[in-house]
Amino acid sequence: MIGKKKKCIGLIFGGSSNEHEVSISSAKTVFQAFNSKINSQLFTVKAFYIDKYGNWLDSDLSIKILIGEIESDNRKKCTIFNQEKINFLEGIEFQNVDIWFPLLHGFNGEDGSIHGLLKFTKKPLVGSGILGSALGMDKILMKTIFSYLKIPQVNYLVLQNQDLNDKEVKNKLILEIIKKFKFPVFIKPSNSGSSLGISKVVEESELLSALEKAWEIDQRILVEEGLEVREIECGIIGNSKLLTSEIGEVKYQTEWYDYDSKYNLNNKIIIPAEIDSKISKQIKEIAIQSCRALNIFGFARVDFFLEKSSNKILLNEINTIPGFTSNSMFPMLWRASGLNIEQLVAKLVNISLDL
Ligand SMILES: Nc1ncnc2c1ncn2[C@@H]1O[C@H](COP(=O)(O)OP(=O)(O)O)[C@@H](O)[C@H]1O
Ligand SMILES: [Mg+2]
Repeated sequence: MIGKKKKCIGLIFGGSSNEHEVSISSAKTVFQAFNSKINSQLFTVKAFYIDKYGNWLDSDLSIKILIGEIESDNRKKCTIFNQEKINFLEGIEFQNVDIWFPLLHGFNGEDGSIHGLLKFTKKPLVGSGILGSALGMDKILMKTIFSYLKIPQVNYLVLQNQDLNDKEVKNKLILEIIKKFKFPVFIKPSNSGSSLGISKVVEESELLSALEKAWEIDQRILVEEGLEVREIECGIIGNSKLLTSEIGEVKYQTEWYDYDSKYNLNNKIIIPAEIDSKISKQIKEIAIQSCRALNIFGFARVDFFLEKSSNKILLNEINTIPGFTSNSMFPMLWRASGLNIEQLVAKLVNISLDL
């Protein structure tokens, strides 16, 4: 270690998506992990907070947010919607960064936008590239590719290129949904996260408001048959070779895994999930196959449903920047697989450097 220059990690967090607060919590955990006794001999961290309006803060201020010295929303006072400001990186010293670690959940981050921007810096980054990130974020395209590969998933219907402001269009779509599905159905924006904009609809009268709720977030909408499921998740890390973690199950008290239950400490995470070893093997295989299909690497969390009545495995989605808070599934899965959070963040950097 002596004589070896420490690698400077550029941790990017916050962002303008509806998962801003989750991103701050994730970044706090990762920041602490890089500052652990072992990792601080190998790494230094520069942090870059992006506020909800897209303004970037310099590293000193951003670190103050991470260590709780200043509140992130104190910034509200001085932020302005500066639409003409194209050079939003002005004053941000990122030249010393060796490896980027974007921890932005949701749109303008996890969807490949930040990956595209960082590509201009010609520095490696932790996680997938533009393509895998964009596909992992877009539920419609993700499902289309999985269908093509015959990967098992719930039945679904894509609603796009339709103007939901038009009453006739809305009525037509509602008829289409009723014709195709039995209730309940799930209505989802194609691009979102943390269950935001998603509704479980149990009867026809609720369809319209559910469609409008999804439409507010994304004008491309997915309708899915609603099944009674267990929720099973698997972590992925790696580059040319992908490794799978132990498999975990999340149990919650609510009817489905909505926003409130996702960030509720009463959820029960069971690792390893109590499932048959044959199912566990299949889940790991599908996790790798699906990441490969979407060009996802670095790290990701692949989420499955296990239908309660049939024990059938159904792929739900891939999260390319999974939650990294202290009680998030992704770090817990890897802890159970032999990598504590300090080892995990260091490993992710090594993967991004192909070491
Ligand atoms: N087809 C479905 N059947 C049963 N539950 C579902 C279905 N789709 C979504 N859910 C519930 O909604 C949650 C969020 O849906 P998901 O598609 O994973 O969105 P997000 O990307 O916001 O996490 C799931 O974890 C699950 O609890
Ligand atoms: Mg999900």
